[in-house]
Amino acid sequence: MSAKSAGEATLQYDGKSISLPVVEGTEGERGIDVSRLRSDTGLITLDPGYGNTGSCESAVTFIDGEKGILRYRGYPIEELAEKSTFLEVAYLLIRGELPSKAEFAEFDNEVTLHTMLHEDFKKFFSAMPKSAHPMPVTAAAVAALATFYPEPDTEEMLQRAVVRLIAKYSTLAAFAYKHSLGQPFMYPRNSLDYASNFLHMMFAVPCEEYQVDPVIARALDLLLILHADHEQNCSTSTVRMVGSSRAPLFASISAGISALWGSLHGGANQRVIEMLEQIQAEDGSADRFLERAKDKNDTTRLMGFGHRVYKSYDPRAAILKKACADVVDRTGANGDIGQLLEIAMRLEEVTLRDDYFVERRLYPNVDFYSGVIYKAMGIPVNMFTVMFAMGRLPGWIAQWIEMRRDPAFRIGRPRQIYVGETERHL
Ligand code: CMC
Repeated sequence: MSAKSAGEATLQYDGKSISLPVVEGTEGERGIDVSRLRSDTGLITLDPGYGNTGSCESAVTFIDGEKGILRYRGYPIEELAEKSTFLEVAYLLIRGELPSKAEFAEFDNEVTLHTMLHEDFKKFFSAMPKSAHPMPVTAAAVAALATFYPEPDTEEMLQRAVVRLIAKYSTLAAFAYKHSLGQPFMYPRNSLDYASNFLHMMFAVPCEEYQVDPVIARALDLLLILHADHEQNCSTSTVRMVGSSRAPLFASISAGISALWGSLHGGANQRVIEMLEQIQAEDGSADRFLERAKDKNDTTRLMGFGHRVYKSYDPRAAILKKACADVVDRTGANGDIGQLLEIAMRLEEVTLRDDYFVERRLYPNVDFYSGVIYKAMGIPVNMFTVMFAMGRLPGWIAQWIEMRRDPAFRIGRPRQIYVGETERHL
């Protein structure tokens, strides 16, 4: 499917009138096609932060930020969250349709069989300082996959690379954590599902039995589903941009992981929990923090609040809020985590009544409750964004493949309005 014609817009400039085609997507969203603007007029568009710029046509994910709607390949996030598993959703995003039973069994089996890392990869981790943040370690490890596996140049090799990436990412992430602790790496277990296997590699030690809690494994699977794609956000646009130079898949995904790390993007989940802990350590009241977040002379922001696209409640945050209460109940509502959840809920309540946040339509986003769940699961705070990236992998992959197959594919290369010195001489 591609966008259909929806008339023309007229641009008047310098005594001339220029017609620009208007296109419409399947959900009625309209855009002015400016792809011939420069060649026809010499003008370019200027849109810092790309808030008004559509960089591509895409059939992967639909968001209506006004109504709080999120759909992967047409399926509402609420239905996928309730009825699917992460690997089913990964298949849906990457291949376009939900798998049949037989298709899923084959995909699941392939992923399971590729979770092991080349033994030499262990040396990669030992070259990293134990104190390193796991995000750059993971980004570098994903880029390093390209040194072990050839650049895919056939469809079959590409599908193999996709499976390797999804399978090996969880092993890389768990190894990064084990390295930081100085504990032995736990090899993957083929008898476990994707989420349980990750929990096992993270928390088991060779000298003791470790039983994966199915409630925690299901909650992790849910988190991965909710993070699986979010159309043209910063990291996805990075993956597309890097891939547009014909850089290989692993290198493009590694760049996406780096983009995700920032505190305005995926790094916000770590910052949310740090914010809640700071409020807890002060006096449990969020008032002082809220005042700072509203103060234009202070760079503090209320982490986990606000979104470029959602101007209503982020549907992922709504699902997570409920899941969060269930996981906290399971792991001990009376302890520290229970207190953090209470602070988060109180903070949300106060904020949603506050004029500053109401006027700007700032609601909790996906990162607001995810940190509390990760913490309740025992995931260390500096691993939160690594978890986000694990969930986002299928979306990045689907968008990368879509971009490379797009007949309109060109290298991404924005223009600028130069405002520096005009020609001068020594
Ligand atoms: N706390 C306080 N004020 C805020 C916040 C916030 N969290 N978010 C936005 N604002 C204010 C901002 O100061 C501006 O006010 P004014 O109009 O008076 O200048 C107004 O709201 C619009 O904000 P913006 O920065 O122009 O909005 P944006 O679309 O460029 O930024 C955002 C979106 C998500 C970066 C921003 O809301 C933010 O910094 N939120 C906190 C970080 C966060 O939670 N990020 C996770 C995003 S969701 C998951 C993901 O992408 O990874």
